[in-house]
Amino acid sequence: MKNKITRRSFVATGATAIAATAIAQGPTVIRRSPAKPIVISSANGNRFKNGGDMTCVEKAYSLITQGGDVLDALIAGVNIVELDPLDDSVGYGGLPNAEGVVQLDSSCMHGPKKRAGAVAAIEGVRTPSLVAKAVMDLTDHHLLVGKGAQQFARDLGFKIEDDLNTPNSREKWLEWKRRTDPSHYLDPKARADAGYHVALQMIAEGKIDREHLYGTINCDGVSPKGEICGVTTTSGLAWKIPGRVGDSPILGAGLYVDGEVGAAGSTGRGEANLYNLCSFLIVENMRRGMHPKDAAMDALRRVKQNTIEKRLLNSSGNPNFGLNFYAVNAAGEYAGVSMYPSHFAVCTERGAQTLDTEALFQGKPEG
Ligand code: GLY
Repeated sequence: MKNKITRRSFVATGATAIAATAIAQGPTVIRRSPAKPIVISSANGNRFKNGGDMTCVEKAYSLITQGGDVLDALIAGVNIVELDPLDDSVGYGGLPNAEGVVQLDSSCMHGPKKRAGAVAAIEGVRTPSLVAKAVMDLTDHHLLVGKGAQQFARDLGFKIEDDLNTPNSREKWLEWKRRTDPSHYLDPKARADAGYHVALQMIAEGKIDREHLYGTINCDGVSPKGEICGVTTTSGLAWKIPGRVGDSPILGAGLYVDGEVGAAGSTGRGEANLYNLCSFLIVENMRRGMHPKDAAMDALRRVKQNTIEKRLLNSSGNPNFGLNFYAVNAAGEYAGVSMYPSHFAVCTERGAQTLDTEALFQGKPEG
């Protein structure tokens, strides 16, 4: 049967064979018109270098303009951030869940191939984006979770580690744990509220970065041939209930790509995004001809309209959380927008830049 992967050959396949298997699946016919290449990401995509000399957007842009596959280039970029212990929102050293275990989510989407893959709540693998890509390349599925995702990665030869905490992420978790009454676990809502309150306290005290509470990296790119891809990877909400999965691995929420239209992705409060499937909404808005900025601002307004729970509103009645969208269309036009002022990264022929987002509201979430 064409493209069938038997269990024996599947298990025998090492991580290094992933690309070869993808090639064996045969070329995808891609129709594209020339475009200005660009890579856009959350701001951490132009901050961390993991001891090297390039940030995520620089690496991805360089590979794309050398003719590399756009998704491979974007993933090589986010791998820098996943592996960097200094970014405690993603991959190795990401802030752990309530039990001190780092659980990671990721998705990727290949516009020209019209395929996608994702993993959620995976433990022990520093680069969940590569496992998401393997789900896309090697299976008929879209999303593998938890132990199944880890076993899949183990079978492919990915290194599985007992603990992805760094001294930094463990120290911050211990501080959160110390302040939280464990008996709240019996009452999920009270516990979630108490946990969130402590997290806000720790932000106000400068102990954790506000952007890293739901910290994530989303990275999207367009090649000179107009090929569009995207990837999102995260350690999710800091100190989440074990097993909580956010928006990042869910198509249409943390990421959506249409190879003919554009790409959109998100960082920030995943639950708000999941309720509104904003990445899909943004891409559909762009399909109707909206500029990426208007398309993404429309999604922020949708989130505001659908946020009615008092605990999620500030004293002005507006959403009291951060949420950011990154959007790029097939022509290479792009935008970074956010609920409150924030930043995003781009790399174009002018080099890498960190820019201010267009914000729906001024100020910042109330602590
Ligand atoms: N946006 C990341 C998360 O909520 O998990």
